Amino acid sequence: MSGTDRRRGLALAMRRDERLMRAVHPIGYPLLQAVPGPVRRVPGLGVVVKDAALARQVLLDGEGFSKQGPGASSDLWTPVLGARVLVNMHGEDHRALRRRLAPIFSPSFVEPLVQQSLGPGAAAVERRLLAGERVDLAAHARRSASAAIALLVGLEREAVDDRLFRQIAGITGMVRLTRPTLSPAQVRSARAVLDSLGEHAAAAYRGDESTLPGRLRGLGLSEDEALGAVGAFILTGTETIAAAIPRIVALLADSGTLREARDEAGAERAIAEGLRWTTPTPVMLRSTIAERTVGALRVAPGDRVIIATYAADRAAGGFDPASDRAASLKQLWFGAGAHFCIGAPLAMAEIRLALAALRRVEASGRQVRVTARTPARGQLLPGYARLILEARP
Ligand code: HEM
Repeated sequence: MSGTDRRRGLALAMRRDERLMRAVHPIGYPLLQAVPGPVRRVPGLGVVVKDAALARQVLLDGEGFSKQGPGASSDLWTPVLGARVLVNMHGEDHRALRRRLAPIFSPSFVEPLVQQSLGPGAAAVERRLLAGERVDLAAHARRSASAAIALLVGLEREAVDDRLFRQIAGITGMVRLTRPTLSPAQVRSARAVLDSLGEHAAAAYRGDESTLPGRLRGLGLSEDEALGAVGAFILTGTETIAAAIPRIVALLADSGTLREARDEAGAERAIAEGLRWTTPTPVMLRSTIAERTVGALRVAPGDRVIIATYAADRAAGGFDPASDRAASLKQLWFGAGAHFCIGAPLAMAEIRLALAALRRVEASGRQVRVTARTPARGQLLPGYARLILEARP
């Protein structure tokens, strides 16, 4: 591919991803885009931060900012999940629970688990593409995310279907940037879904350590703590990964750069750059708990801070998997500080597995292309409802 073709391919891929963001968030995305950076107070919304260094300042300052308080994650999730589920905790309590949960997400525990539970699905995608079939990668990613839920909840894989994925995405889909809490009816319907999963998790907790809830018991968590953690994993670790994989693959396929991810080092660069550009969870929320200065702006207790992570990540430059633009961001797309994504090793293992299957298809001399796509409307995270891939010689 010539340099000009490559530049055109990258520009096209970014335009298509931009179209997806606008289709999924026709109001919130243009609204945030219009806010001038690096930090600005927006009446009715909060203090919007669009700069990576300022975002890190907020995320690393546990004395100044919290996930508990007005407009932060606790307002959304405590009524649904209870008070002690990582995403709404703060300070020593939070650190202590993280320490106890750490072994669950160590790469050495997660990687074989992902290979075993998601490997056959990834191999089927590879086989079908090589056979000239059309494959819906978005549907595949939802099935894989469901298989991962099965693992987390202690369900039999067969008991988890697309309906369950839709129910979970339905919970996160209730969240709006302009509405910091869920309505009582929304809380009731979210709890109904999680309670039914909680029953399986409770049974698994009492069983042996082959399931995740059982292992949490082995790690010394009480049943309530274990079920809370499982609920948080379900809400944070399902839609994120199902949205991320098709978006990253679409960027690489649309730009014709998938084949640049030939070796392991190229694949790692492509994944980091894909995560940087897509930033699957576009926004993080905090509540200010002590007076601070963020950039040129004074903030006071009670101020809601909206970190537009996607904007901070993109400020490093356009999407280019051959660049090292992602390196300086220290994985800001997974957060920073005390609440850094605990599921990152699981997410990375899932992305690597999917990408490895497509890299092998490209290594056979075919080119993986996107032949049709539909945005997933009504979801919290920008993603595809349908992403049809084909491999052509
Ligand atoms: C590409 C996929 C993913 C992305 C981009 C992502 C992103 C993030 C981000 C940005 C945060 C920090 C939020 C904040 O500080 O406000 C976070 C936290 C978290 N993530 Fe992920 N995540 C992904 C996948 C997963 C998976 C697969 C799990 C599996 C369980 C997971 C579980 C969690 C949990 C439990 C937290 C809360 C940690 C805490 O508050 O201490 N995530 N994630």
